[in-house]
Amino acid sequence: MKSVDLVIRGGQVVGPDRIVAASVAIEGEHIVAVGHDDVMPSAKQEMRADGLYLLPGAIDSHVHFRDPGYAHKETWESGSAAAVCGGVTTVFDMPNTNPPTGTREALALKLKSAQRSYADFGIHALLDDSTVGHLEDLLAGGATSFKAFVGNTFGNLPPPTDGALLEGFEKLAPLGIRTVVHAENSSILARRQKVMEDAGRIDALAHLAARPAVCEIEAIGRVLTLAEWTGARVHIAHHSAADSLYLIRDAKRRGVEVTVETCPQYLLLNTEDMLRLGGIMRLNPPIREARHNQPLWDALMEGVIDMIATDHAPHTPEEKTRESIWACDCGFPGVETQMPLMLTEVNRKRATLMDYVRWSAVNPARAWGIYGTKGVIATGAHADIAFVDMARSGTLAQGRLQSISKISPWHGRTVQGYPVHTLLRGRFVMRDGELVTEAMGWGRSVKSLQTMPTPRPRNTELYSSAITTTPPGVRPNALPSEDVPR
Ligand code: NCD
Ligand code: ZN
Repeated sequence: MKSVDLVIRGGQVVGPDRIVAASVAIEGEHIVAVGHDDVMPSAKQEMRADGLYLLPGAIDSHVHFRDPGYAHKETWESGSAAAVCGGVTTVFDMPNTNPPTGTREALALKLKSAQRSYADFGIHALLDDSTVGHLEDLLAGGATSFKAFVGNTFGNLPPPTDGALLEGFEKLAPLGIRTVVHAENSSILARRQKVMEDAGRIDALAHLAARPAVCEIEAIGRVLTLAEWTGARVHIAHHSAADSLYLIRDAKRRGVEVTVETCPQYLLLNTEDMLRLGGIMRLNPPIREARHNQPLWDALMEGVIDMIATDHAPHTPEEKTRESIWACDCGFPGVETQMPLMLTEVNRKRATLMDYVRWSAVNPARAWGIYGTKGVIATGAHADIAFVDMARSGTLAQGRLQSISKISPWHGRTVQGYPVHTLLRGRFVMRDGELVTEAMGWGRSVKSLQTMPTPRPRNTELYSSAITTTPPGVRPNALPSEDVPR
């Protein structure tokens, strides 16, 4: 037998249903064998992974790498360095850059910046009133999926009208393409914020008061209605509230094609932390009262929430620590800290490593149509592996983050469980905790891997016929006067 590039021996391979002691053989970018040590082919390079767990590289459905337009906050280079140092091998980048990713030109600019990526990537293009007329063009230009900012957030992109959202879903449903939705009701939150600003409130909790859970409940309800009507695939970003979970549970039972992410901050932080951290913790939707934390965990366990994403949303320390809460930019970095934070909870027995792999790799890979090549350690898959040391403990330190945004609500938090090496398509991008700088630019788009399952559109046939063309045989409505009934 031909000798392969690399054999990793002695590790525990983690899948969604089992953990097995197995060796992994890698040739080029792919895994060519997973199995007993004795049946491994000979290799140019051998590596021991005794005491380590081998997890499929994490797939983060929600990052803001800010490039083009806000390079002082993050770039593809710094953001993707943060990703791979956190065991994340694939990211999906958000369109609220400058220019927003809503035209072919803007998309081309983003893909150019992404050539410096350490991680593989997908691109969520913008779905709003300005883009709904050329969605297919954006897909042809390399977008993997769409994002609708139904709730106002950083970048101040106008939310899509319900009309544009419905039309977008009608067009995307037959293609099977999924749309991420930032689900908050913009009208409620804008009015509340104004009332509070006029009253002179500038404290941190005013941010939460401006965006009560009802904003999320209403927006999720509306989005699910349109998704169910059209059969479009949707993905609820950063689910934050216990009160809106019932809508997802019911929609899934009815077969609505919805996937949902939550983030470590909604599971592990609450308003108590906001009192301490103020603007550092300001993000949208807000981190809520402690009563929301456990129901979100339960929903992950139950499968109502499918996955962990990070909403990695970097801003500079200056932009996060201004006196008025309204002046602090919303969001904070997270792609690098997600895995240690979640592994710590696994060590605390709140979930198993298999659960974690389901949430961090399997389910996101399925949602974006890349499962099989990504999201799993198996023959034929990309060799994307996070080598995890569950015994290693440490303290998260914002100054050590790869992200340009060296400010984090996780600063000073003790964790146990770290990714120690990250392999992307057969190549180490992080080794012994250090970024492999020569690997810059190794990341590439996952677009060509994407195969969405057969779509089941509903009520979308009306779009192409009745809206823009008068159906054959239908008379114009201006009836000749002799036809008017008397
Ligand atoms: C995000 C950002 O900064 O781009 N901010 C945030 O508070 N989450 C935008 C977003 O995802 O809503
Ligand atoms: Zn958002």
